[in-house]
Formats: sequence, C-alpha cells, structure tokens
Amino acid sequence: MLPGYNTHKNRRRLAIYTDKLRPSASFITGITVASVLFTFLSIFPRAPPSIPYAFEEFQPEKPDCLSCGLDPTVALIDSQSYIQPYEDPGMNKHLTESQCLNQYPGLFYEAERALAYWSERGGITLKHLDKASEKAHGRVVIHNNRMFVKEFSHNDVNTRALATFAAIHEALLTSTEAFPNVEFTFQVQDAGDSEDEPIPTLVLDRTADQPELWLMPDFGFWSWPEPKVGSFGEVRDKAGKWESKHSWSEKLPKLFWRGASLDREIRKQLINAANGYAWSDVKMMDWGNIQPGDLLTMEEHCGYQFLVHVEGVAYSGRLKYLLQCHSVSVMHELKFIQHFHHLLDGNSTSADQNVVVVPLPERRPGSETDPNPWERLPEVMEQLKKNPDRVKRIADNSWEGLRSRYLTPSATVCYWRRLLSLWSQAQAFTVKVDDSYIPYESFMLMRTVDWQAH
Ligand SMILES: *[C@@H]1O[C@H](CO)[C@@H](O)[C@H](O)[C@H]1NC(C)=O
Repeated sequence: MLPGYNTHKNRRRLAIYTDKLRPSASFITGITVASVLFTFLSIFPRAPPSIPYAFEEFQPEKPDCLSCGLDPTVALIDSQSYIQPYEDPGMNKHLTESQCLNQYPGLFYEAERALAYWSERGGITLKHLDKASEKAHGRVVIHNNRMFVKEFSHNDVNTRALATFAAIHEALLTSTEAFPNVEFTFQVQDAGDSEDEPIPTLVLDRTADQPELWLMPDFGFWSWPEPKVGSFGEVRDKAGKWESKHSWSEKLPKLFWRGASLDREIRKQLINAANGYAWSDVKMMDWGNIQPGDLLTMEEHCGYQFLVHVEGVAYSGRLKYLLQCHSVSVMHELKFIQHFHHLLDGNSTSADQNVVVVPLPERRPGSETDPNPWERLPEVMEQLKKNPDRVKRIADNSWEGLRSRYLTPSATVCYWRRLLSLWSQAQAFTVKVDDSYIPYESFMLMRTVDWQAH
C-alpha cells in the first residue's frame, strides 16, 4: 500500500481528485487510484467508522408533507398563474366563471333564456330526461367533478356525438372551479327536434318557435374531421396566419360562395340573385364534377372581402369558420339560431355592425308565396360597394368582436360551463350516479357504453 493513503486528509483529497481525473493526462493516476481504492475496499468490505465520509450525502430535513393538514379552502389558481400572459388570450380555457362573465358578458344569452323558460315551468325533471333520451345521441352525468356517459346513440351522424362528449369533458377539465352536478341529453342532427310537449335537451340549433331547446356550441367548435375542415383551433390558426400575411387591400373585392345545392330553394335563389354581377363569384358546386376554383381551403376564403353564408337543410356550420376571416359575412335573414347568433349585428345604421344581413323584400299584397330572402342581394351589394369605409368597419368589427373575442376557444369553454351551470339551476331533481354509468375515460376509448370484457 502506498504511504499516506490511509490518512484521513489524503482520502478526502483522493475522492476529489477522482472526480477531476481526465483520461489524457491523469488516466494512469486514475487507474492506480481506483485499484488502490478497490483493494482497500476488498480488504475492509464493511467500512470502519473512520472512513465512510467520502460516500456520505447531505440529507435535507424532510418536510412533514404526508401527515400535514390539507387546507380544503386552498385556491386552485394562485396569483402566479397569470404572470405568464397568454400569447393569444383567445386560447385561455381556464377562466373562472366570474372572469368568463367579465370577458364575454354578451355570450350567455341563449343559456339564460332557456333557464328562464324552464324556471317558469317548474324546472327539468328526470321524466323529461327519459323522454328526451328517445331522440338523443348522448346522455351525460357530471357528478362530483367526474363525467359519465349514461347513453350513447351513434345513429348516422359521424363523429358529431364524440366531438360533443369531448367538448363537454374539456370544459370540465379546464374548469378551475368545482362543477355543479348535472344530468342532460343532447341531439346532434342538423336541426333540433321538438316534441308536442316541451322537452328540454341540448341541440345544435333551434328556430324561434322552439324556445324549450338549449343551444350548445356545435361539434365543429371542437373538430369536424369528415370534410377535412379539422379542429376549430386549426381553422382559427390558419385563418389568423393568412390574415397576418395579407392586407385588406389585397383581398378581392368580390362576394364568394361555393356549395352544394342540397336541393334547397334558398341556395338556388342565391345563385339566381348573384348571377351576372361583376362583384359576384357565387357558384353552385357539384362534388362529382369539381371545377377549378371550386375547392378553397377555409383560409383561402379570407382572400375575398365578402363571404356568403346560406343555410342548408338547417343551420350551416360554415358561419363560425367564415367569421375567422377579417372579411364581411353576407347572409340572409337566418331561420335557424345557433348559440352565438344574437351577437351578429346586421343593423346597417349601427357603428357596431359586424355582418351584413340582406333584408327581406316586402311581401306583395295578397301574395301567398314566401318572400325570396336573396332578392335584395344586388341592392345591398351596390350599397356596400359605394361605402368602402363602412365595409372595412364591418370587417374590423367582425374580426375584433367575433373572431378575436366571442368565437374563441376561450369563449366556447366559458359558454359550455355556463350552459351546464344554468342547466343545473333548472334541474328539479338530485343528480345521482349508478355503478352502471360508464366513466368518460373508458367511453372515449371504447366508444360505446356496452362492451364484452376480455
Ligand atoms: C340600429 O342602430 C341604430 C343606431 O345605433 C339604432 O338607433 C336603431 O335602433 C337600431 N335598429 C335596430 C332595429 O336595432
């Protein structure tokens, strides 16, 4: 054994040197030191009390966190959460209910209206829900901040119901506050369906004579994969990117629309009303015979100053996408109402106008036929062409008030939470869970509430 290695001081130095050894200069020394150490440890496998300091680690004092008290009133958001601001506040899905009300005060009209309707009629009962189940695509229970799928009926509406379940779950997960217990049904076919007696259920859209229905954000606010439109965030991002690279003056000063006729009179009336005008790029499209210029991505729509919105079988899901562009949406008097439609301002004398609504023509005395909702389109377009400042202001209002505010993912989860919160206020029963209810986590993997164990 080399002299001096067994003294206290030298062993400490040895440990330090071993850390610093470099293969080039000190490799041999390292090997030597290591073999000395190895030999030493082989001779004294149980280190005597005088030497183990080279292997001792600093032991911090352990906090008492296993038996310490849990404060049930602790705030789930601390002030630190807001130090890093959202690059895009429209993506902040974690607003509290009071922050939602503050940020989006005009958003909740439809939910409040439905609550008032049901409160006046004694509230919603389990009997109502059982009746609503007959036509529903989903029945959901949220209990103790957990979501259960009680019923799921796929029918033939693609991924709409799955998107709806997912959107509800997102609203629950992103909530920073405890969720009320709720049980409800929803329908996802094009038009909300009523019964002879009023039955409460969540639907995509309603007409003025269906006040009993509760409007939810449509599945496209989550994602609409079948036509490859994609998730709402994707459409929003792409349109935003397009707009950031182009100016208003680069947009074609024309009115654009392509769509299928769906054998709807209102779509034929649109084509006829726009036909032959210099401002018009409005054409019917045949999915079996696609022409150049027919298939525009959603963001390519932003290249036009004016975009047509027209209903189809019921409401058309396109409007929320068109409104992602810094352009002017031009529509007829809509018959089918979605949860955000009351925020559309077509008042042509208002400084807040954010869309253009073609007014209905006056009904001719004695006429039995319905007025053509597109008849006055040419007149409206000529007016707009004469007022470019007004056109730009409508586009700005649409961009700022709708795209950047009321139609953001942030606003949408706020709406979902408030909708379910107000629904819970209309409930005249206590929400209970049963062992047979499928937790959403299992449902989203199996896509059914009934499967064979294996
Ligand atoms: C349209 O806007 C003007 C100006 O703000 C207002 O005076 C008028 O009442 C509005 N009309 C309707 C139908 O809301």
